[in-house]
Amino acid sequence: MASIYAGLATSHVPAIGAAIDNARTHEPYWQPLFKGYEFARQWIGEHMPDVIILVYNDHASAFSLEIIPTFALGCADEFAPADEGWGPRPVPVVKGDAELAAHIAQSVILDEFDLTIVNRMDVDHGLTVPLSLVFGTPAAWPCRVIPLAVNVVQYPPPTGNRCFNLGRAIRKAVQSYARDLKVMVWGTGGMSHQLQGPRAGLINQPWDNSFLDRIGPDPRSLIKTSHLEYLREAGSEGIELVMWLIMRGALNDDTRVLHRFYHVPASNTAVGHLILENR
Ligand SMILES: [Fe+2]
Repeated sequence: MASIYAGLATSHVPAIGAAIDNARTHEPYWQPLFKGYEFARQWIGEHMPDVIILVYNDHASAFSLEIIPTFALGCADEFAPADEGWGPRPVPVVKGDAELAAHIAQSVILDEFDLTIVNRMDVDHGLTVPLSLVFGTPAAWPCRVIPLAVNVVQYPPPTGNRCFNLGRAIRKAVQSYARDLKVMVWGTGGMSHQLQGPRAGLINQPWDNSFLDRIGPDPRSLIKTSHLEYLREAGSEGIELVMWLIMRGALNDDTRVLHRFYHVPASNTAVGHLILENR
């Protein structure tokens, strides 16, 4: 039987990918950030998943204003790195798990979550930067990855409650899969940041840290957070944090925080990172 044993959350700032791709990780600006991921790199080497269900958002790379799926599950065998304007990142092609993805799609859709099934999709920094942060620069990614793209770019994004419950449905789907697989769920994006308008550069460290305090032991105190609160307190791009709630919903009620890291700034974003293990 497949099972989910842990979750990982991390910001997915594009400038982090550029720092890795241009060998700038040891510069004074970046060094403290990458130090915060050393634990994850070591830990995952000892606890390698067979498959990661990686929750992220597409930044107008695979989708555009022409088509805006709320939840899009990557069911293909592989996903190429997207060209975001400077050519694709020099990272390996992401190998999916089409069989598990099809099983998740069936289970979750019959559970009344209307996922969009995507059989061809390039994946942008939202997905590849977390992989680079945790796995470095390998010739091939060390495990399979099922992308789950969430619309947090064009209003209206899904609610935190909907995301948490989708996580619950994904957990049920994985647990009913016959193959013996170790599965992790990653939630990416955030933390507080705003890229445009008079409040560009907004960072709210107390709010971010309260989110980090609560998502492990008390996620239900976060799932009713309104879109307006995310916007007001965490900036217009802080809404990406609803994606962490899919990861959290996919874990047990009782989890243990293995690692917690918070760093300001990376580009103009507050970076948060957690590893939660099911008890
Ligand atoms: Fe993003």
